[in-house]
Amino acid sequence: MPLTIVRNDITKMECDAIVNAANNSLLGGGGVDGAIHRAAGPKLLEECRTLGGCDTGKAKITGGYELPAKYVIHTVGPIWQGGSHGERELLASCYRESLALAAERGCESVAFPLISAGAYGYPRPEALRVAMDTCSEFLMEHDMMVYIVVFDRDSLFVSEKLFADIRRYVDDNYVSEHTDRSRRKMFSLLGNLAAAKSESAPVDAAMPMAAAMFAAEECCESAVPDDLEKAMAQIDESFSQMLLRKIDEKGLTDAQCYKKANIDRKLFSKIRSDVHYKPKKITVIAFAAALELSIDETRDMLMKAGFALSHSSKFDIIIEYFITHGRYDIIEINEALFAFDQPLIGG
Ligand code: APR
Repeated sequence: MPLTIVRNDITKMECDAIVNAANNSLLGGGGVDGAIHRAAGPKLLEECRTLGGCDTGKAKITGGYELPAKYVIHTVGPIWQGGSHGERELLASCYRESLALAAERGCESVAFPLISAGAYGYPRPEALRVAMDTCSEFLMEHDMMVYIVVFDRDSLFVSEKLFADIRRYVDDNYVSEHTDRSRRKMFSLLGNLAAAKSESAPVDAAMPMAAAMFAAEECCESAVPDDLEKAMAQIDESFSQMLLRKIDEKGLTDAQCYKKANIDRKLFSKIRSDVHYKPKKITVIAFAAALELSIDETRDMLMKAGFALSHSSKFDIIIEYFITHGRYDIIEINEALFAFDQPLIGG
């Protein structure tokens, strides 16, 4: 997963570089700036003194000293003044300039705090969106592991409306494990009844079967794909084969697909070269979103990898929310999953 959000103290991140949300003097301050200087020790400030400050939107690099990270990249975010003073562009420039410096030094992993989202007052959802958009744009052309490090638990990163919509959808659809088990029983009943029916059981015995099948189909309308013929034809297709078929059908290149899915190149080439590759569920879902599959196609792709969507899993319900609402932006999905303390998708 080349771009991910983690809850941590950035001074603990064992990356090649961590980014400091500094001020123009580069001589330390509060917040993450203070934390990094405290953890790095006095030599960091000594080196910063030689840099001659830093303009807003720009970045400069020093050693990491007593930090686990090899480098500290100091960047100065914009102070929020309402959003019409070029704040977004300046903030995006902080991420771009820092990533360019990291790439120049051959860094394979970089961790960012939410620049400007503290003392500088940048609204948190927008600050995260700028971070994710700018980093994912960079990752379209570069191979690197980028972490957005969130420090405090109360950081809501999706709009109140989206958060409320998802919460309502989860509440409407979430069933506890035991109820879901009765649905599974219904599935097996449906399977048994179909088998019994095909052995031309006597008509009077068939009636309860038909009623039960109808009831079962009613409550599991998506249990049987609407085009059974097509489904049967693809029943022996593996996950990897379906993925490659869908990439072709959508007219995407491999790279466009796996970048959009927040999947790294190495993992994709493993999937491409092994027709029986067994991916993680979060990887399958990331591809389903990148390919903008329907909910039935998503269920089909999951089934080929040995998974299903279950209403006794908040994660699955949130995924179902986004796919049934045609919202395929992986960044938005991961921000929502993060806000609900669920694992992120990608690979
Ligand atoms: N690890 C990760 N993130 C942290 C940490 C930490 N140890 N400490 C704070 N943060 C988060 C804050 O919760 C916030 O979301 O970093 C984000 C940026 O907050 P600030 O540190 O206040 O940075 P910023 O908003 O860019 O303001 C910069 O504050 O500290 C001074 O010298 C700094 O003048 C500069 C200004």
